[in-house]
Amino acid sequence: MDLIIRNGKLRNREGIWDIGIKDGKIAAISKNISEKAEQEIDAQGKLTVPSFIDPHIHLDKVNIVEVVRPNKSGTLKEAIEIIWDKKAKYTTEDIVERAGDVIKRGAINGTTRMRSHVDVDTIGGLKPLEGVLAAKEKYKDIMDIEVVAFPQEGIIKDPGCEELMWKAMESGADIVGGMPANEHTPDDSRKHIEICFDIAEKFDADVDMHVDETDDPFYRTLEMLADETIKRGWQGRVTAGHTCALAAYDDHYASYVIDKVKKAGIHMITNPVTNLMLQGRNDKQPVRRGITRVKELLEAGVNVSFGQDCVKDTFYPFGSADLLQVALITAHAAHMSMPHEIEKVFDMMTYDAAKILRLENYGLEEGKDADIVIIDAFTVNDAIRLQPARLYVIKGGKIIAKSENKRELNF
Ligand code: FE2
Repeated sequence: MDLIIRNGKLRNREGIWDIGIKDGKIAAISKNISEKAEQEIDAQGKLTVPSFIDPHIHLDKVNIVEVVRPNKSGTLKEAIEIIWDKKAKYTTEDIVERAGDVIKRGAINGTTRMRSHVDVDTIGGLKPLEGVLAAKEKYKDIMDIEVVAFPQEGIIKDPGCEELMWKAMESGADIVGGMPANEHTPDDSRKHIEICFDIAEKFDADVDMHVDETDDPFYRTLEMLADETIKRGWQGRVTAGHTCALAAYDDHYASYVIDKVKKAGIHMITNPVTNLMLQGRNDKQPVRRGITRVKELLEAGVNVSFGQDCVKDTFYPFGSADLLQVALITAHAAHMSMPHEIEKVFDMMTYDAAKILRLENYGLEEGKDADIVIIDAFTVNDAIRLQPARLYVIKGGKIIAKSENKRELNF
């Protein structure tokens, strides 16, 4: 063994366990591994889990809030428009530096995989993609990053964007993004979705779109996306992020769409930190929560995860690239308070996110990748509630981060 974790508490097994790691894989899990390894860690009975996955973040836009004007209306529209000037002047070095800060914070906090959307449009061209690809390469030892070509400014609405989307996929993007609600008409939204699927078919790529990020129930592109997913046979390969309008629909139409989402095998990602901040801005009391119907989707058997989405950008001024913080906010926003619901929130940032990325070697089992985090807590509830130190973060069998809780009370 190269590394043995002693005395870990695992979520799905009673008692305390040793985990043996060899060649970047989990080689053994047993009550007591008799052999010795070059490196050994004592987990002291603390929660030992597969490392976290952030399936929805925008690394090209992070840490921008101090160099652009503030978002006065607090809306999505203004958040997008404020960035235009900065986006036109992006440099690779600037993006690598800003994204690097978030990648390093994420790793220290136990995240070893991210799926980053990257703007592809006629304002920034392919510069955001170049920057994030450079960051992906620079930090590949601590973070696996999937890149989504994201037409933030629309496709039909932004002549020249379609060509850039094709080029982005040729230049190293992994996933075809989309934002069909950001078009002038429903017909254009439909065309937007068709173009994205044409590109996905050509590159045999998965699809991950920003869908109906609005409180306005007029926007119905989630249903369009579900229809196109089934038409193209892309079930299980499509993800819809945000989907705030689903919460604004009447219950009858919402359950009809959720049924279609389930049939289409669409994965859903809620981004509560951003949407609690952006949505409901024009509501008088009661102000809507602005996030999608998480519990109804879960009850329907749809796979749901959550992402950090934003760190210090025009959409959201906070964010620490700590998924336990996002988990805490998700639990509040989605009313997930029962013991089994709190466990489910933890699944959403681990196993359920792994389903979105279609990872075959994820999990705390023999033969799986040795991507592991040891949290300074004994229970999932305490991990989410206290957001304690991640004592060790292991990626590919190597310790990439160590932390300790140094706070002391003299009492
Ligand atoms: Fe997003």
